Amino acid sequence: MTESLPRNSMNGSIVLFGPPGAGKGTQATRIVDLTSKPQVSTGDMLRAALSEGSKLGIEAKSFMEAGELVPDDVIIGLISERLKMDDAKNGVLFDGFPRTIAQARELAKIAEVSAVVSIEVPDESIVRRIVGRRMDPETGEIYHIDFKPAPESIINRLIQRKDDNESTVRNRLKAYHEQTSPLAIWYENQGLLIKVDGEQTIKNVGDEIISKLSAR
Ligand code: AP5
Repeated sequence: MTESLPRNSMNGSIVLFGPPGAGKGTQATRIVDLTSKPQVSTGDMLRAALSEGSKLGIEAKSFMEAGELVPDDVIIGLISERLKMDDAKNGVLFDGFPRTIAQARELAKIAEVSAVVSIEVPDESIVRRIVGRRMDPETGEIYHIDFKPAPESIINRLIQRKDDNESTVRNRLKAYHEQTSPLAIWYENQGLLIKVDGEQTIKNVGDEIISKLSAR
């Protein structure tokens, strides 16, 4: 059966929110297919800048490798430019943005947010998810050595992100709890927060997201 979302879920932008490794990127694919909204991942944009060796990439490198947040003005500049593109005019799917109250305030000035999907996963599960994550550089598909093993035929080409190690993930979690998690209450007060249990199977997390978005 083809999945669909009601029209009111299609207005404005959707934010995928949660700690590092919660499954934002994993679930983004299904929501993009359903809504035709482009995925806007600040992490992916920064990694692309880093591999191109651009000024932005050089500026972001030390923060990313330390597991710290890149300064707000850099991120806000990046998003403002991205939202000027044609494909963003009916809203986008934000993945990993906003991550501070300052970013959320700036976003509110330039775009309408219709829902914030918070994928809830406790810290104990995060480290295992991050350390076991592998990416396919050809397709962008995200795998996990235990939870979503890649087909044997592509195992040799899989890569591991430089910041996917245990010590960096502890810093990323610290940054999340100190700077990002207060945003959940900020969005809850605006009636936009949808909480989803991120400790289910990948399929069931996706089903819960779709059903809660549909019920809005
Ligand atoms: P970013 O790339 O955004 O990383 P992140 O938020 O740390 O999130 P991840 O991409 O690590 O996790 P995810 O939630 O997408 O999980 P995934 O689906 O891959 O940011 C990187 C860095 O860039 C930041 O540290 C910061 O320096 C900078 N940055 C980016 N945006 C910024 C901003 N707005 N402001 C300032 N700085 C910014 O899943 C993880 C693994 O778990 C995978 O292996 C997957 O297969 C597995 N998995 C997923 N779901 C399940 C499930 N239900 N059960 C079991 N396993 C699962």
